[in-house]
Amino acid sequence: MAILPQRLAVIGAGQMGAGIAQVVASSGIAVKLVDQSHQALDKALAGIESSLARLVTKGRVDAVTAEAALGRLYTSTSLEDLHDVDYVVEAVPEREDLKLRLFASLDAVAPPHAILASNTSSISVTRLGAATRRPAQVLGLHFMNPVPIMGLVELVRGMRTSEDTFRASLALAARLGKQTCVSADTPGFIVNRLLMPGINEAFYALQEGVGSADDIDRGMRLGTNVPMGPLALADFIGLDTCLSIMQVLHSGLGDDKYRPCPLLRQHVDAGWLGKKAGRGVPIPGASLQPLTP
Ligand code: NAI
Repeated sequence: MAILPQRLAVIGAGQMGAGIAQVVASSGIAVKLVDQSHQALDKALAGIESSLARLVTKGRVDAVTAEAALGRLYTSTSLEDLHDVDYVVEAVPEREDLKLRLFASLDAVAPPHAILASNTSSISVTRLGAATRRPAQVLGLHFMNPVPIMGLVELVRGMRTSEDTFRASLALAARLGKQTCVSADTPGFIVNRLLMPGINEAFYALQEGVGSADDIDRGMRLGTNVPMGPLALADFIGLDTCLSIMQVLHSGLGDDKYRPCPLLRQHVDAGWLGKKAGRGVPIPGASLQPLTP
């Protein structure tokens, strides 16, 4: 039987890192949440506290369990604090150069037995593994947003990921109450290979005047029975993340059908990154508030 980690670290305390830390701590595992920014750590802790409080109010978590989860959370700005962890989940921005450098650093500080997982949405897990001296202990562990609500984790096996690493990660996902799908290590894996071209196409439709932002989103929300339209979803994910994923699909798969929409690029250039920046695509009636867990 696969051994569950006793101590886990999450690197990057943004939208995803905070959510991952919350569900891991709620499952009884101690978590070190590491970010280069004190501000990001403060914001993450405040977000986790209010998310847990909402879950208590809704009766989905009891107050004692929520308090215990908060007691299992530690924050740090130093990777040196990873010296005693069994499992690391990296959740820094979707940039390959940044992740490659970070994986080399994680390899230097984490104990030799530790597994190094990435929450990447699209980047090659095999290449992240090759930046370390432990490629057999590297894999993709792709959570969905918002992590406390969404039921899926996508597991990505790199070329050199070992069976033990894969099984330990399956066991961790089960402990967190998540179902899994398993993807080959190809650009965007399963979920973003299918999801992100639709979001990109929504930007093309907006750019070409096929419909207003409101009509595009309402059409897709009510017409395909999904909780959010593609433009609202892009705001929720982060337009910078959407653009990075499209760039990985375009360069990795080659086909021009993955070319990032210029309007998406312009929003990112303008700093209109969506919910996390307080402004994204203006959609009348849509809220930039986070979904309430
Ligand atoms: P974010 O921009 O909200 O947060 C990234 C955090 O990483 C920031 O707090 C930043 O200060 C920190 N950071 C940057 N460089 C760092 C370093 N060298 N060391 C420590 N911390 C560092 O990004 P978000 O949305 O949380 O995305 C993170 C990862 O999760 C990306 O790979 C993204 O593709 C993936 N992802 C995102 C989803 C989404 O809906 N936003 C869904 C699933 C995966």
